[in-house]
Amino acid sequence: MSTSANTTTSPHAQRVLITGGASGLGRAMAEAWLRDGARVLIGDVNQERAAETLAALKDLPGELQYQYLDVRDAASFNNSREWLEQNWGGLDVLVNNAGVAGAARIDRGDMADWDWIFDINVKGVVRGCKVFVPMMKRQGHGHIVNIASLAGLLNAPVMGSYNVTKAGVISLSETLRFELAPYGIHTTVVCPGFFRTNLHESMRTPEPGMIETVDKLLSSDELNAQQIAEMIKQAVARQQFFLLPHKSGRRAYWMKRFMPFVFNRIMLKGAVRLQRKLEKTEQRKEH
Ligand SMILES: NC(=O)c1ccc[n+]([C@@H]2O[C@H](COP(=O)([O-])OP(=O)(O)OC[C@H]3O[C@@H](n4cnc5c(N)ncnc54)[C@H](O)[C@@H]3O)[C@@H](O)[C@H]2O)c1
Repeated sequence: MSTSANTTTSPHAQRVLITGGASGLGRAMAEAWLRDGARVLIGDVNQERAAETLAALKDLPGELQYQYLDVRDAASFNNSREWLEQNWGGLDVLVNNAGVAGAARIDRGDMADWDWIFDINVKGVVRGCKVFVPMMKRQGHGHIVNIASLAGLLNAPVMGSYNVTKAGVISLSETLRFELAPYGIHTTVVCPGFFRTNLHESMRTPEPGMIETVDKLLSSDELNAQQIAEMIKQAVARQQFFLLPHKSGRRAYWMKRFMPFVFNRIMLKGAVRLQRKLEKTEQRKEH
């Protein structure tokens, strides 16, 4: 079952599926591709936000459809695959974008939070690939875009579960890049730094004051979701594998690889500051 907004496209227009497409970066990518006249199916668990997105983007060219899609459920992906086969005859670009956030020191939080974030951020991407790669192999072409994060490259403290999931997405993408190239299927992995979205709403954390801290980090204005979406669209057009949209992110990653002694000093300083802040907030809460 899908809900549609605008439905005016050529049968040759690019076909794009974006998981988590109702909000933030997913929505911005839908907008970017629609402006080019593409056919975009957004899959998301948040039906209310999806309805807002359909309404907001309804006057753009291209065709926009929404389907309920939970990346924790392979059957959900299969429904989208069937819909895409029947209505658009296949899929050109799969964007594994749906993701959630988590933050906890290693001795806080519980394993259930690790299971939850893994199921969405890692296994959600794996499920998407498993369902759509056979279709792309039959087509002889396709492009998979995986939204990872700078977090998966820099591994900042207190973000263990999130970092590990995003590092996993980078690793899977590097694997697929070579595994799928002989079938004409391209891969892009995107590692953005912070930008303003609704990601803090999904965050699970036992740490005092952490949601506010992450909310502040998300208000970084180096790039917004629309700018990153445009870069992703161009990376797909150029068949670029690795995309690090933020200049500050490129600088930090470069420093980690080529000046590790400076990088380590900065990370350690940050970790000490964060530890003090968490302990102070805890003490304030106790009194
Ligand atoms: N915002 C940032 O600073 C930032 C930085 C780096 C990477 N990212 C990544 O960008 C991606 C998009 O996040 P965003 O920042 O736009 O956040 P967002 O919360 O605005 O959007 C995420 C979307 O994913 C959906 N979603 C969550 N669980 C789902 C599930 N089980 N099945 C289907 N949809 C689900 C949500 O409903 C939401 O619409 C995520 O993978 C995130 O990790 C974000």
